[in-house]
Amino acid sequence: MHKIGLLTSGGDAPGMNAAIRAVVRASAGWNIPVVGFRRGFQGLCEGDYWALTPRDVANIIQRGGTILKSGRSPTFLTPQGRQKAVEVLKSLNVTGLIVIGGDGSFRGAEIFQKESGIPVVGIPGTIDNDIPGTDFTVGFDTAVSTIVQAVDRVRDTADSHDRLFIIEVMGRRTPFLALQSAVACGAEDVVVPGLHDDFSRVLWRVQSAQQRGKRSSIILVTEDNQPGLSYKLAEFLQNQGIPEVKVLILGHQQRGGSPSPWDRWLASKMGVLATEWLIQGKSGVFVAYQKGNWVAVSFEEVQNVTKPMDWELLDLCYRLAL
Ligand code: F6P
Repeated sequence: MHKIGLLTSGGDAPGMNAAIRAVVRASAGWNIPVVGFRRGFQGLCEGDYWALTPRDVANIIQRGGTILKSGRSPTFLTPQGRQKAVEVLKSLNVTGLIVIGGDGSFRGAEIFQKESGIPVVGIPGTIDNDIPGTDFTVGFDTAVSTIVQAVDRVRDTADSHDRLFIIEVMGRRTPFLALQSAVACGAEDVVVPGLHDDFSRVLWRVQSAQQRGKRSSIILVTEDNQPGLSYKLAEFLQNQGIPEVKVLILGHQQRGGSPSPWDRWLASKMGVLATEWLIQGKSGVFVAYQKGNWVAVSFEEVQNVTKPMDWELLDLCYRLAL
């Protein structure tokens, strides 16, 4: 391995900087230089790079976002764009690539390593935690904390005014952020598009909570392909006679902020392992955390696979929302 290329791709996630730091410093331990490409695969296609030294990554472990910036690259989706990327890597003498990102980024990484023969190892980084094969992705824990803190504040005012709040979280039709947060903040119900398209169950839960003497409740909703599903649910509930339904869409604040200790630890460990695996000759795999073990899962294995939802979490939410 002469030189390692590194990029962050897709939606940013707290802890990406900690992963960048870990890759750069672990590589330095092997005397292998690292070049970071800016704005994900787009910067790779354009040759927009930064020769990262261990000093460049000082003081970033605690910072949200990504110093390399991130993005979704239309150029890289084309064979010509990927050919440009190969030329850039060859011209810089980069012989292996580490991609920090979500499932879309891993799809790109898989095509690229197959087409080009250049080894690629992934680090799962997305607040959505929707990558099959790993229990946790970098950024998820911090995003759950951000959601729970926001819901706790809303609960104060919901309680003072006897109101029902519908709070919409990110996840683009995947249930993980909403479910984990719902248990942690004691929500009355969780709505996930595709799983719970019939709102009458929510109505029933809200009405029975009121019959049990509950004056205020929180419903967590996973966003659909676009934010705004909560407004439809609010309209439905109001039409069914539930007064004072308020909606809050949490939005991009869920992607920001200083990473939690867990995310810093996960990112550091994954960064070191990704570097070592690349140096050892692994390719086409990402670092996965499975019940306390570190496992190399192939990009291919998880393509077109939906991460299963943990129904026990929903059950826990219901059993405790009495
Ligand atoms: O992939 C992470 C994610 O935060 C999704 O939950 C969300 O739907 C999406 O990114 C929004 O991304 P953007 O606004 O950057 O397109």
